[in-house]
Formats: sequence, structure tokens, C-alpha cells
Amino acid sequence: MSNSSRKVTIKAFRFNAETDYLPYYKSYEMEIGKDELILDVMNRIKWEHDGSFSYRRSCRHGICGACAVKVNGKATLACKQNAMELLDLFNNEITIEPSSKKRSVKDMIIDKSDFWEKHNAVKPFVMADVEPHPEHETKQSLEEFDKFLESDLCIQCGACHYSCPVLEVNEDYFGPAAFVAAYRFSIDPRDSAEKERLELTAQAGQGVWDCVKCFECAEACPKEINPIEKITKLHNMQFEQKVAKSNIATRHAEGFVRSIRKHGFLDEADIVVYSEGYLGMYKHLKTAIKMMKAGKIHWDDAFPWVDNVPKSKNLNEIQKLIKISMTNKL
Ligand code: SF4
Ligand code: SF4
Ligand code: FES
Repeated sequence: MSNSSRKVTIKAFRFNAETDYLPYYKSYEMEIGKDELILDVMNRIKWEHDGSFSYRRSCRHGICGACAVKVNGKATLACKQNAMELLDLFNNEITIEPSSKKRSVKDMIIDKSDFWEKHNAVKPFVMADVEPHPEHETKQSLEEFDKFLESDLCIQCGACHYSCPVLEVNEDYFGPAAFVAAYRFSIDPRDSAEKERLELTAQAGQGVWDCVKCFECAEACPKEINPIEKITKLHNMQFEQKVAKSNIATRHAEGFVRSIRKHGFLDEADIVVYSEGYLGMYKHLKTAIKMMKAGKIHWDDAFPWVDNVPKSKNLNEIQKLIKISMTNKL
């Protein structure tokens, strides 16, 4: 073993849907060089140990999105990730798994049909009446270009989609990558289907209001696209276009602004009453009791005629900022 290489044992998830009842893990010993990528490690498992080891790869330049896998549970683009870095980070123990174990068809190859169905559902293309003989190209201002916010860089690798906890429990949810695509095409100045996409992504169960803002998608994305930022933009666009429906999530967003505008602070009890009503409060009784014990709320906070939340000393400034930055009326 030299400084530039290291002898290690790599564990890999193995499963063949045609022959195996259950998946299993297999270990492979090899010497890894300092410049080798996770994709090189997978190539060496296949070329030097077991030719049946299967995975997708194509460009080797981080642009086709085919080689997304998980290493020690963390979403990774195999052709971008240096293996030594991960060996250092995980004390020489790494396990390579598919992006979604339950969708494995053969080893790292997964059935991505749910990803593509959702991508397709948000109409990921420019919808426009095209002039058959245009006199010049469609011009775009710098300001219009800036609004894309990296959403155009998505390579559809699925890393965010298969890291999203909401998708694990709700198969109707579109997921972060579909929202990035919905945003990217709705913001395009040539497109005319913004309202259609906003209506689709406003639906309870499948739309942006079911996001729990856990940031897993932002962590997972190898192109640093930050899907949550696009989800938040879609929230605003839905309010601006009067597409947002009144539900717990939208009222929670409104209640948040209402509270900050009134006090300069968050009035936790008021937000719950505003978004879920008095009956809804009953659901949160256990949490409310814990918060009361911790002094975060008081027993009379929920009564509209009691205003005992302290006011920020800079309330005037806060109210001015809210007024300037608000793009739609609550
Ligand atoms: S922030 Fe929202 S979309 Fe992203 S992983 Fe979490 S729940 Fe899913
Ligand atoms: S947003 Fe990022 S992680 Fe999600 S599919 Fe696109 S490139 Fe992959
Ligand atoms: S092989 Fe294309 S992104 Fe990795």
C-alpha cells in the first residue's frame, strides 16, 4: 500500500429480480488509486471480479445522470465522486447501493418509471404557438435568464427523487425533480402553460404543499440545483396567479406572515389556530402541553381576544420589509 493507493474491501448490493428472492451484499477486495472514482470502483468489480455486476453509466462527465447510486446511504453521482475521499470519510468502509433498493431490477440498475411518469406529468417542455417562419430568434433578457436559477442544469439523475421521504410514504407526490422541471418550463418566457403546471402542482397529495422541507433533495443533488428553492418559487407563483387553494399548508404560510407582521415574532399558537382551526388544535394537544411546559406558549395564547405575545422593538422596520417584499395580498 502506498500513499497514492490503498487496499480496501468494498461492499456492494446485489440483486437479480429474475433469479433472487432477496437481495444480498458481497465484498470485493481491491487496491484503489487516489484518482479513482466510484465509477472506476464499480468498473473494477465488474471487470476484475464478477462480470454479472450491473449498473448504468454513459457519459462519465456528470451530464447524463445515468450513474446515480448511494454510497453509505448518501446519494452520489458515481462518475463525479472520488473514491478515496469517501474511504477517508468512512474509515475505509464503503457500501455501494442503488438509488432505491426497492426498485432494483439488477444490482444498481433500478426501475425509474415512477420518476419518468412524474417528470412527464408536469409537461417538461416549452408549450408555445410557434411562428413557422420567424424573422429572428427569441430574445431573452439577462433578468429573464437569471430567473431560471440553475433549474436548467437538471440531468434527471433521480438522486433527489429517491432521497425524498415524502415519496417513500406517498406515491402520488410528484417529487423534487418534477417540481424543478415544472418551475424551469413555467419560468421560460416562451412558454404558455404556466397556469396549467401551477394548477397541477397545487393539488393536495401530489403538489408542492406536501413538501416537508427536509432539505434531503438539496443535499442529494449533484448539480447543486436546490429543488426546495424552486418549490418555494412555485408556492409564490401559485399565490400570484391565484391558483393556490385554501388548505392547511397555504394557511400555514399565510399565518406565518400574519404573525410576523403583527408581532415581529412567531406566534406558534395563532399559526395553528389560523391554519387548522380550534378543532385542529386538539390534534396537537400533546405538543402544546410540552411547549407550555417549556414556556414557548401560554395556556391563553389561542384566544383571539388575548394578545400577550411580545412585540419586536423593530416592528415598524419589519412591517415595512414585509410590505416591500410581498408580491400578493393575503
Ligand atoms: S424538501 Fe420536500 S421535496 Fe425535498 S426531499 Fe424534503 S420533502 Fe422531498
Ligand atoms: S434536481 Fe438534481 S438530483 Fe434532482 S434529478 Fe435534477 S440533477 Fe438530479
Ligand atoms: S456516467 Fe453520466 S453522469 Fe455519470
